[in-house]
Amino acid sequence: MSESFYQQANESPDDTFEQSLRPPGFDDFHGQEKVTERLMLMVEAAQMRDDVLEHVLLSGPPGLGKTTLANIIASATGTTLHTTSGPQIEKAGDLAGILTNIQKGDILFIDEIHRLHPAIEEYLYPAMEDYRLDIIIDSGPSARSIQLNLPKFTLVGATTRSGMLTAPLRSRFGLINRLDYYTSDQLAHIIKRSAELLDVTIDTDGAIEIASCSRGTPRIANNLLRWVRDFAQVRADGSITAEIAKKALAMIEIDEDGLDEMDKRILEATIYKFMGGPVGLSTLAVAIGEDASTLEEVHEPFLIMQGFLKRTPRGRVALPAAYTKIGATPQISNQGELL
Ligand SMILES: Nc1ncnc2c1ncn2[C@@H]1O[C@H](COP(=O)(O)OP(=O)(O)OP(=O)(O)O)[C@@H](O)[C@H]1O
Ligand SMILES: [Mg+2]
Repeated sequence: MSESFYQQANESPDDTFEQSLRPPGFDDFHGQEKVTERLMLMVEAAQMRDDVLEHVLLSGPPGLGKTTLANIIASATGTTLHTTSGPQIEKAGDLAGILTNIQKGDILFIDEIHRLHPAIEEYLYPAMEDYRLDIIIDSGPSARSIQLNLPKFTLVGATTRSGMLTAPLRSRFGLINRLDYYTSDQLAHIIKRSAELLDVTIDTDGAIEIASCSRGTPRIANNLLRWVRDFAQVRADGSITAEIAKKALAMIEIDEDGLDEMDKRILEATIYKFMGGPVGLSTLAVAIGEDASTLEEVHEPFLIMQGFLKRTPRGRVALPAAYTKIGATPQISNQGELL
């Protein structure tokens, strides 16, 4: 179970559970102050001008609150949110179908917008800029272009890979927001709020304990809380303390830094099999039997942020903290450099 805990948390969010804990408004959305301040200002300005909100891009690792913010924007502006995702829009007709159902001011939320088909992106440009859609129907000699005028709408795009977004698409957003990992204090606050909604008693130390293992990510914090709640119910009186949280997390093999078995395997392979690196992503993925994109999107960002790994042009390199973590001795060259 432990190996896939974070992966599960990232890949198959349990919708009803997530939605029940999703903050409905800016007031309940804790952390990411710069982003929320900008968004609130935009909403207020648009309302004062009685205008439609500019297009917004939200980027950042999984589980930090992109979808949540898109929902909050819609409710703050009192409009309807239409949700789709990059891979879901296969042909121009799909996009036309969505856009023609939109009312003035509505929010079109495109998740994983970096995965939009390039041809679809071309259709999106005039839709974003001039609120019109030129689509070609039929093909060959009978092909003709029709132009649809659209109501003014707001596109909210979300991406976990902002680097993969094309420059023309990126430039069409009025505001680009990057979400960062949360601090433990912020996560402890989120955990307390979730515990209240779940009707679970938790003390501050218990919340901090879970927060410190949550890899800066609210989704993981909520999922760990759910596990610890179950543990507390079965093995204790149902309320969560630091001691209970520690035991529960140990049972799923998550250590005090929030590293799971797969993370440790990545560090071990880099150090023992590849002499500390540099090692290429795909080679490392094969060595540990994990999918390269999972490695890159789920495990690596956290290991890099925590100073265990470093990304170099020649591949991944283990840093001293990685050696300490797995109890290996770093090989130091005469020049004092890590080998
Ligand atoms: N700032 C926050 N305060 C409280 N809860 C939050 C916050 N941010 C996220 N959450 C919780 O974390 C869960 C995941 O957030 P969300 O689905 O918005 O992430 P995401 O960035 O869209 O992830 P993905 O990239 O996987 O789509 C939500 O159910 C929500 O309950
Ligand atoms: Mg999302």
